[in-house]
Amino acid sequence: MDLFDVYPVYNVTPVSAKGCYVYDEKGAKYLDLYGGHGVISIGHAQEDYVNAITEQLKKIGFYSNSIINPIQLALAKKLGKLSGFENYALFLCNSGAEANENALKLASFHTGKKRVIAFENAFHGRTSAAVAVTDNKKINAPINQQQVSTFLPLNEIDLVEKELAKNDVCAIIIEGIQGVGGLDEGNTGFFKDLERLCKKHDVILIADEIQSGYGRSGKFFAFQHHGILPDLITTAKGMGNGFPIGGVLISSKIKASYGLLGTTFGGNHLACSAALAVLDVIQRDDLISNVNVVSADFIEKVKQIPQVKKVKGKGLMLGLEFDFDVAELRKKLIMEEHIFTGGASNKKLLRILPPLNISSKQLDDFIISLKKVLE
Ligand SMILES: Cc1ncc(COP(=O)(O)O)c(C=O)c1O
Repeated sequence: MDLFDVYPVYNVTPVSAKGCYVYDEKGAKYLDLYGGHGVISIGHAQEDYVNAITEQLKKIGFYSNSIINPIQLALAKKLGKLSGFENYALFLCNSGAEANENALKLASFHTGKKRVIAFENAFHGRTSAAVAVTDNKKINAPINQQQVSTFLPLNEIDLVEKELAKNDVCAIIIEGIQGVGGLDEGNTGFFKDLERLCKKHDVILIADEIQSGYGRSGKFFAFQHHGILPDLITTAKGMGNGFPIGGVLISSKIKASYGLLGTTFGGNHLACSAALAVLDVIQRDDLISNVNVVSADFIEKVKQIPQVKKVKGKGLMLGLEFDFDVAELRKKLIMEEHIFTGGASNKKLLRILPPLNISSKQLDDFIISLKKVLE
């Protein structure tokens, strides 16, 4: 059987990894500034994380959710504490798309409505609110998408209000910082207006923090830069440092009842012990402070490169904008300089999503390489 060929791959075969580096089968070392779509938060093969998963696997890796799993509760407590959302409840699942699907379901159940407002260039996974605009074509959209989702430009609050007035919207979903679409973000006034209008029109505000969460923006969640309180917060990617896990943080205004949501694998013992180890390391090593320190230094230096027209994003969720398509540049960075970076649906953007414990020295190495390939 062959693989179903739906995405292109670079001709590199990583066989091991440690910290910010991955190694191929010939032993060549690559600096990883992309972390497999932004999932590597505490570094590859981090020792405490590996030990936690290994020890847990020897005990019990999986049993269904019909029994008590104390690691789920420990994870919920720790996540509540570190994120500042102790009075929210946690529903665990396995991926970003699942987290958003569950959030959208909750919004629809709670309000009795079904239309969703999302924003142009947003990406919410392969879900009923999915959208990413590439060459002005909507991709990844299920056939019923047009019936359930409306896509509006960011920072145009009057357009949002006009849609909400129709009284059929159950949720507004917004990324703290747009990832795949190209690092655009709502401004503080926009986020605050969304919060206000959602309350006024009985609409659930969903913050999709699947990529921008877990400290990546320099705060635990990126929307925390704007001082709002969403009703639902979705998370995945950095949550498990590569181990598949997702979650929905749910405000107390949405009440739980048996059968409302469900999952087979969500919140399994192994995933929870991985996620708990991630939070332990983020806290112990003060990784969010590191994000802020190395990011400020990096942004200042990278702005000096004349070909870099703009630096977008926050913390270690950054996009360097050029005035040309970066496909060739990314290829050169991987093949000649052994550095992984990311692309975006904005073809002129080079995305930087390294582990949160990357050092300024490692980012300096990237700057040297970038200058070299730009010559
Ligand atoms: C903001 C955002 N939401 C949702 C998703 C979907 O996550 P997953 O690929 O785990 O389903 C992604 C993935 O890139 C994302 O960036």
